[in-house]
This record gives sequence, C-alpha cells and structure tokens, in this order.
Amino acid sequence: MRFSLIFSLLSLVGLSIQEDYSNPLKSSQGSDPFIVTDLGYYYLLTSTWSDVQITRAKTLEGLKTGEKKVVYRSEEIIRCCYLWSPELWKIDGVWYLYFTAGTKESLDGQRVHVLTGGKSPFDDFTYTAQLTPSWGIDATIFRTPEKNYLVWSGIAMWQSLFIAELLTPSTITSPTLLSEPTIPLEQVQNPVNEGPAALYAGGKSYLTYSASDCWTADYQLGLLTWDGVTDPLRADAWTKSGPVMNSANGNYGTGHNGFFTSFDQSETWIVYHATSRPSGNCGAQRYTMAQKMNFNGEGAPIWPVIAPPLNATLPGPAGEDIELH
Ligand SMILES: *[C@@H]1O[C@H](CO)[C@@H](O)[C@H](O)[C@H]1NC(C)=O
Repeated sequence: MRFSLIFSLLSLVGLSIQEDYSNPLKSSQGSDPFIVTDLGYYYLLTSTWSDVQITRAKTLEGLKTGEKKVVYRSEEIIRCCYLWSPELWKIDGVWYLYFTAGTKESLDGQRVHVLTGGKSPFDDFTYTAQLTPSWGIDATIFRTPEKNYLVWSGIAMWQSLFIAELLTPSTITSPTLLSEPTIPLEQVQNPVNEGPAALYAGGKSYLTYSASDCWTADYQLGLLTWDGVTDPLRADAWTKSGPVMNSANGNYGTGHNGFFTSFDQSETWIVYHATSRPSGNCGAQRYTMAQKMNFNGEGAPIWPVIAPPLNATLPGPAGEDIELH
C-alpha cells in the first residue's frame, strides 16, 4: 500500500526511478553469474574457482564496485577446489547457497553442495551437505506451487540435465534424466546441456539451459517448457526449443544465465556471461552481462534475447531508488 503510494507520487512529479548502467557488470571472474534481489539490494555471485563470494549493491551499476564478502573457502579434499556456479535461494525464510565443488586433482570430483545461511543473504553461511550422489554441476531450483526441485547437469550418455525433488533444502530424491543434448544447437564440438535457470511468466514455467561446448562461440541458450500438468520429474513433461539466446553484437558464447526481478517486482531481468573472443572462451575471459527481458501481450517471453554491445548505456531496473522499510 505505502509502497505503491510512494511509487505513484514519484511518477507524478516525474522523478527518475531507475539509474543507468552498462555491461559488463563484472569484467573478470564473471562466469556463471547469478543475481537475486532482496530488501533493496542486488546480490551477485559468479564462479571465482577458488572460493564463493557474494557482492551486493543498491543499484545494478553499483555491483561493479559493490561490497564483497567471501562466504566459503575450504581445505576439505572433496570440496576444496574448482568452485563454480553459486546460487542463492530462499526456502521457508532462510537463505541457502548451492554451489559446485570438487577435488584439486581433476574435474572428476565435481558435486553440488549446499551452505545454510540466515534471514539475509549477507548473513554467515555454514557448510551443510553434498546433494548430488555422483558427478554434478550448475544446480538451480525449479518451483511449482507445491514443491521445490533441484535441476543440475550430470553425466548420462552425454552431459545432460537431471532433476530431483528437493525434500529439504539439503536432501533430494533419486534423480531422473530431464534433457539430453540431442539437437544440433546442443552439439557444437561436444554434446552438452548445463547451467539450467527457471523462468515463470504468463502462467507458464520454463527452464533455460546452456548448450554445446563452452570453448566455442556457439555456447548458447536452449529452452524447456513445462506442460504445467505432467510430473516435472518426467522428461516428457517438457518441450524443447531454441536457441533463445546466442552470440550478438560482439558478445560470443552467451550462456549460463540466471533470472532476477526488479525491486518493485515489475520487471524480469536476465544475467549471463559472454566473451569478446570470436572463438569462444570457457575460462577467465568471460564477463557478466545483464539486461531486461521483454514479454508479449500474453506474458510470454520474447525470444531470442539479443545481447547489447558492451559498454552501451542502458536504463537500469525499475524501483532502484525506492527504499523499502
Ligand atoms: C568497453 O570498454 C572497455 C574499457 O574502457 C574497453 O577496453 C573496450 O574496448 C570497450 N568495448 C567496446 C565493445 O566498446
């Protein structure tokens, strides 16, 4: 009530309710980005490989110089190293941090783990559990009104997407195979499905995911659309399409995205990584980009999402200078 009143007053006197920003939001260690908004802050997480960090700021542009905190670093043999794709999720009022970690020797030990935090994403986290029973990376959460599901990338015939019900924030049911890289957009250099991210719009539920080898410029986003009735643990509940985002305007290998909402919940934004190397990159040459998503009259997302040129000045998310109390 009070929020919408303030919002209307600001609009009436013509005050700007958003600050401009430009990409990249993070020029190094910018891969596998994830952003969530909570009580007037944006929280950004990316893969640093050696620890898990959270950066927060009150504007999107502010993330470039935001307040930074290391929330996980470990000497434990099975989860010391190759720390990737951290994501923050609030379940029953508590923040949990899902991330990928493995051993020092090779990438064969990669598993999904979870940390338990507090009521704010900037509270301390404690190590809680390993979630995937075998090789697994890039976990995210998919939600229906009744249940939470963990979706991640694991190994079947190829690197594929798996899904399991999240019984508690740190336990899952037996995984089922959700999507395999079977169509051309998923098979450039190597067949790969990874980096899933849930999107809810116009009454429908979607999962975007990253397809093909990340060492190519054709690392790109595919789309899975849930039919809304069949058990989401079943692969035949989902229809595949795409690509819904690929290289554009000098940004190559656009992928491993997340979605977040503006403070006032009126806008949905996408965050993803890309490289300016036309040959693609799967290492340190990836930067973090974000942009507003567009929807049609029925509320369906408008695809493909086109990455803007680097450094272009763009209007930031709505509601940035509105303080919620
Ligand atoms: C963006 O800005 C950076 C830093 O000033 C510069 O190095 C880079 O060439 C620019 N890229 C584009 C595409 O304008």
